[in-house]
Amino acid sequence: MGILEGMKVLVIGGGGREHALVWKLAQDSVRPTIYCAPGNAGTASLAVNLPIAAEDLDGLLTWAQRERPDLTVVGPEVPLCAGLVDRLMENGLRVFGPCQAAAELEGSKVFSKEIMQAAGVPTARSAVYTTAEAALKGIQSMGAPLVIKAEGLASGKGVAVCMSLGEAEQAVRECLVEGVFGAAGKRVLVEEYLEGEEASVLAFVDGKQAVLMASAQDHKRIFDCDQGPNTGGMGAYSPAPVMTSARLELIQREVFDRTLAELRRRKIEYHGVLYAGIMMTANGPQVLEFNCRFGDPETQVILPRLEGDLIPILNACIDGTLRPEMVRWSTDPCVCVVLAAAGYPGTIRKGDAIRGLAAANALPGVVAFHAGTRKEGDQVVTAGGRVLGVTARVAGLPQTVQRVYEAVGLIQFEGMQCRHDIAARALKRMNGK
Ligand code: AMP
Ligand code: GLY
Repeated sequence: MGILEGMKVLVIGGGGREHALVWKLAQDSVRPTIYCAPGNAGTASLAVNLPIAAEDLDGLLTWAQRERPDLTVVGPEVPLCAGLVDRLMENGLRVFGPCQAAAELEGSKVFSKEIMQAAGVPTARSAVYTTAEAALKGIQSMGAPLVIKAEGLASGKGVAVCMSLGEAEQAVRECLVEGVFGAAGKRVLVEEYLEGEEASVLAFVDGKQAVLMASAQDHKRIFDCDQGPNTGGMGAYSPAPVMTSARLELIQREVFDRTLAELRRRKIEYHGVLYAGIMMTANGPQVLEFNCRFGDPETQVILPRLEGDLIPILNACIDGTLRPEMVRWSTDPCVCVVLAAAGYPGTIRKGDAIRGLAAANALPGVVAFHAGTRKEGDQVVTAGGRVLGVTARVAGLPQTVQRVYEAVGLIQFEGMQCRHDIAARALKRMNGK
């Protein structure tokens, strides 16, 4: 019997990112037994779902102490920033993800900015305020457009891009007077507005070095042509043609290498995924934010392009033995279209039956990753804002876009919303427009 036989892996989280992780891990040559807490109807077909919330640190710890998984992979930022990795490691468990001190790169936008400034990472100019009075003075002197950011975790809702001073004043008041974001909005960052094309660059990090993943681009607004309110992400594609190899090399050196060096100087070792949200400006790449985890929906388009096994990469990140040649990508592009519930990103409907999943999954190169879904008897029903991330990977971008929308056309549920222009920008770039 091989020593890895019977390997147990625990994945924490229950969204599209976690379904993609479980799907990739399930294909690993060691054929692990996978547990997912809490998972969704998609992970249920590949893993054992555990009725423990991703934020329930005590519950997760109790399960892990009893069951001793060989590897734990933490998906969402909340448990990472709350110190789940530290607590599991204190119990002698192997965990993929940054410790709490390192996760502060996402947990505190003030800390993150301080690291970037100390490290010389290109990023927007900014100032930090703790009182509304000082912030209102600050925005007057800076002038619109500008960006107001609550310091802490706010489920992606803490950033206001303000085209006028009136909007900026309103955003400042929400954080510092009304306390809309609670403790996460006790300090605000007022940031210079950057213009350009946005892309996500994620890296596997082993404590010393960062190995970049394939680039990706997310679509944050709910409606086509980037209209309407921001969401958690309505779709993604990989690679992002705006990220040329010359730009990626620059980002490797000026963003990742410098950030890791600065963290090390402060005795903080980063292990896990480091995700940089980048704006490609006329002055080169600038970091908008760091996340301490895989992106959602970026993971749904990145992992299907990863060649070979994921577990050795995750283990090498934990052990500090990562080598660039361990991370190889298919040349096929990958496109993911998110199907959202009626009302999203506002108050959503739940409990609607989803039809057509099997037909969509039967198309070559297609996987419908589940996000907000749940099983009700033998039906799969909607259970969250982002319901599914329908993903295709075939040769050629036009073919991939066609295939993914063919799959989308086979799926139905009441009030289903999706964008029809996912990857349109990349297609345009391909056609030289
Ligand atoms: P963040 O959570 O910091 O990435 O911000 C959310 C979104 O706000 C980003 O994906 C950008 O679209 C936008 N954003 C953040 N910072 C800036 C900035 N300095 N200039 C322009 N847009 C920004
Ligand atoms: N797609 C944006 C995020 O994962 O934060």
